[in-house]
Amino acid sequence: MKKKIVVFASGNGSNFINIFEHLNRGFLDAKIILLISNNPKCGAVDFAKKNQINYKIINDFRYPELKNKNKEYEFVLQYYKTDLILLAGFMKKIPKNIVDIYKDRIMNIHPSLLPKFGGKGFYGMKVHNAAIKSNEKNSGATVHLVNGEYDKGKVIIQEKVKINASDTAETLASKVLKIEHQIYPKAIEIFFSDNFKTQQ
Ligand code: GRF
Repeated sequence: MKKKIVVFASGNGSNFINIFEHLNRGFLDAKIILLISNNPKCGAVDFAKKNQINYKIINDFRYPELKNKNKEYEFVLQYYKTDLILLAGFMKKIPKNIVDIYKDRIMNIHPSLLPKFGGKGFYGMKVHNAAIKSNEKNSGATVHLVNGEYDKGKVIIQEKVKINASDTAETLASKVLKIEHQIYPKAIEIFFSDNFKTQQ
């Protein structure tokens, strides 16, 4: 039976779209069964609507009570019998109940070579600005498991890009995003491999 993947995204959704297209081409015996977003107006939700992918909006507006919001994530994920959760530009912290239930089954992608430029406050262009400012020779992207701390779980895969003298945060961001699109599908393949399971 196809493995069931749920993606969480808040923004453009290029990683979500890229993974969806990989799976659509038969890359793995897995399927994105649901998109969860806090932002009904984001690119990821637009793509889900146009491509008949189930989506669910969970945010403070719809669930003003934190307890109800956290329960809703739990309810939805259990309803869809999720095998793997992928965070792909999701701008909210995953609540503890979900991290506990889905321990070692949640992955995130981060646009730096963790542990460099990770943790609270390092998101979006802030990550690339920091890499440029600190005169790093390389940056890159990392896929890691999610635990209770920002960007701290076990690294699954990491890939470098060179930072040239002429790079700006913007040019670096676009180079890193290309790497992200290569490594996130690979990380999913690693996750579902027998090898990976026995290491846990
Ligand atoms: C990516 O750079 C990812 O590393 C970070 O958020 C960004 C999401 O981009 N966590 P997109 O929405 O997938 O295009």
